Amino acid sequence: MGQVPGIGLNDGMVIPQVGLGVLRVEDERTDGVVESALAVGYRHIDTAAGYGNEAGVGRGLVRAGYADGDRRKDLWLTTKLKDSEQGYDSTLRAFDRQIGALGTDYVDMYMIHWPTPFDWRADRTWRAFDRLRGEGRVRTLGVCNFLPDHLERLHAETGEYPSVDQIELHPSWQQRDTVAYCKERGIAVEAYSPLARGADLEAGDGVIGRIARSHGVSPAQVILRWHIENGTIIIPKSVHRRRQEENLDLFSFRLGADEHEAIDALDGPIRAGHDPMTFTYA
Ligand SMILES: NC(=O)c1ccc[n+]([C@@H]2O[C@H](COP(=O)([O-])OP(=O)(O)OC[C@H]3O[C@@H](n4cnc5c(N)ncnc54)[C@H](OP(=O)(O)O)[C@@H]3O)[C@@H](O)[C@H]2O)c1
Repeated sequence: MGQVPGIGLNDGMVIPQVGLGVLRVEDERTDGVVESALAVGYRHIDTAAGYGNEAGVGRGLVRAGYADGDRRKDLWLTTKLKDSEQGYDSTLRAFDRQIGALGTDYVDMYMIHWPTPFDWRADRTWRAFDRLRGEGRVRTLGVCNFLPDHLERLHAETGEYPSVDQIELHPSWQQRDTVAYCKERGIAVEAYSPLARGADLEAGDGVIGRIARSHGVSPAQVILRWHIENGTIIIPKSVHRRRQEENLDLFSFRLGADEHEAIDALDGPIRAGHDPMTFTYA
């Protein structure tokens, strides 16, 4: 895993702090994207049933030799359940299909994709997750897009908090209340769209660019380093090998307190994605 630190989770598992996201990568292309990420040093891949590319991830793992054996043990593989498949029996059926597409014996993390509070089934879904964990087919249980009320409800109904909450998080959408809630309860925070899908590279009237120039790094590296120093797990997506390398090369510089303050000050009211209170990925 090279220099990428591990983040300890509340169940004793350790997740590589940097992974590769593969949202909006077509299945036919995903094997090559995953193979290149593994070649440049990624040991953490983040996919979902809803991305339609689990089979492509599986082909990439085979091509790179990470589908089984000792190399598989060095890899962290995350996938997510479709919202439409939440529920006890439907989750178990979905997992069988997903693991078949991924072509591996287990996933390191299985996640509820959206809380869908208007159609809450997380309690029943969690019981199926718990069974899969007991069978050793899933190592750790996570959620995405859960706000404090959703985490509270899940805890009240199952007696557990997830090990990870994967939320939209970047300089212009910092979700401080949810991050503070997670930290107080030992839930690790994982940032999706850590670059705001590219929109934050020019945030703040060029402030990210100025910080980047002063360190001789790229704007993307400044934002990703800010996440790293905040203790956040990140899963930037790139289909380009050069950018995959860049997004992993975050450990030869440090941001100063004034630079953190300048990036913290970019927090704003505009999200790049969807509202967990109303959205379903279906
Ligand atoms: N749980 C959820 O609900 C949820 C929602 C959204 C995303 N996610 C996960 O989070 C991952 C990352 O989020 P995201 O894909 O939305 O956005 P992102 O990682 O913030 O940004 C990806 C975009 O930035 C570009 N990019 C990447 N590295 C760059 C660099 N070094 N310099 C300039 N541009 C760069 C990429 O283009 P190229 O590919 O062309 O390089 C792509 O257009 C997803 O892939 C997915 O795994 C989860």
